[in-house]
Amino acid sequence: MMTKIRMAIFASGGGSNARKIMEYFKHSTVAEVALVVSNKKDAGVLEIAREHGIPTMLIDRKSFYDATELLEELNRRHIQFLVLAGFLWLVPAYLVKAFPGKILNIHPALLPKYGGKGMYGHHVHEAVKAAGERESGPTIHFVNEHYDEGDIVFQARCEITPNDSAEDIARKVLALEHAHYPGIIERVILTTFGSATTS
Ligand code: GRF
Repeated sequence: MMTKIRMAIFASGGGSNARKIMEYFKHSTVAEVALVVSNKKDAGVLEIAREHGIPTMLIDRKSFYDATELLEELNRRHIQFLVLAGFLWLVPAYLVKAFPGKILNIHPALLPKYGGKGMYGHHVHEAVKAAGERESGPTIHFVNEHYDEGDIVFQARCEITPNDSAEDIARKVLALEHAHYPGIIERVILTTFGSATTS
């Protein structure tokens, strides 16, 4: 008998990656999405979670950076793994310590280039375009206390032609995110928890 690893998704925005993750893990024997956390009350991701019957939690800056409230809720729900999917706040040290090597993020560029504070959304793709890059793609990485600096787990690449606008680049990169993020999460969970998923 397998005990599924319980993960929480953190997202601030539309939630297209979160949707792919929820859909994928409906059929996984390895893990399940047990909670969706957002810092925006009108975030699309909350509606998607409700469609999937997944509990949601709304946080403000205080409950995110003060430690107790969020940690208590994660513990209460037996959350074992965190996935960031378009979550914009810097993850505080207490959370990194509580989930060592158990937080993944996806960034829409080939880190270490085009990462760090302020490098999110269209800013990333505009910078890639302005630099005349010939390729881009998402990076999936572990989260530490610094923006976009944890160990890289996976990168996928797409070609950029001179005619591509920043929006074209964004579209290509997002398609790669959707194609790869859920499967990589599952692989990392399997590697991290190994035989612990079998009871
Ligand atoms: C993605 O581009 C991801 O790389 C970045 O935020 C975006 C989230 O998009 N971290 P969505 O909300 O999943 O559509």
